[in-house]
Amino acid sequence: VLRARAAIAEHERTVPDFPKPGILFRDLTPVLADTEGFSSIVTALTHGCSGVDLVAGIDARGFLVGGAVAQELEVGILAVRKGGKLPPPVYGVDYDLEYGTGRLEIPASGIDITGRRVLIVDDVLATGGTAVAASKLMGLAGASVVGVAVIMELADLGGRARIAAELGPDVSLHAITDDR
Ligand code: PRP
Repeated sequence: VLRARAAIAEHERTVPDFPKPGILFRDLTPVLADTEGFSSIVTALTHGCSGVDLVAGIDARGFLVGGAVAQELEVGILAVRKGGKLPPPVYGVDYDLEYGTGRLEIPASGIDITGRRVLIVDDVLATGGTAVAASKLMGLAGASVVGVAVIMELADLGGRARIAAELGPDVSLHAITDDR
């Protein structure tokens, strides 16, 4: 975890007023492109993780980290897509985002995740709207979420409390850094 935190501190790029005025965009792209950064992040997210039999990676940077975490845990990876990317039939959940609204979808055919114990992986936790929506999506498909793992938690935006309130105390939340 300390290696990962050091890499994040060294390589993170922050962009003010993107994508909307007043939003400080946290870009972890350079951290993931760094050999030590990517490796230490995947190790930190995987450490102590048990009882998971599927990883769900959230569009788009959650795909990168989620795939690597799934490989470490020796389970499969499910891509949770933004709305409109998948052919029907799909399961879909609409949600509010820090800026605007969104929709997440997974296939409702060709894959059966009933009873699977899912770890949701994303890059950043802000308001928690995306993670909660992804969790609802897993529920629609008959799976249960056992944990949420992110690289960075933006602690002032209340995501941790929202996850506890909406997903319950049994869903663990693991963040490598919490920041403001
Ligand atoms: C960012 C981030 C998370 C989400 C967190 O993605 O990657 O998925 O916001 O915000 P929340 O906790 O308030 O829901 P974004 O929606 O910007 O999309 P992108 O991954 O396509 O850039």
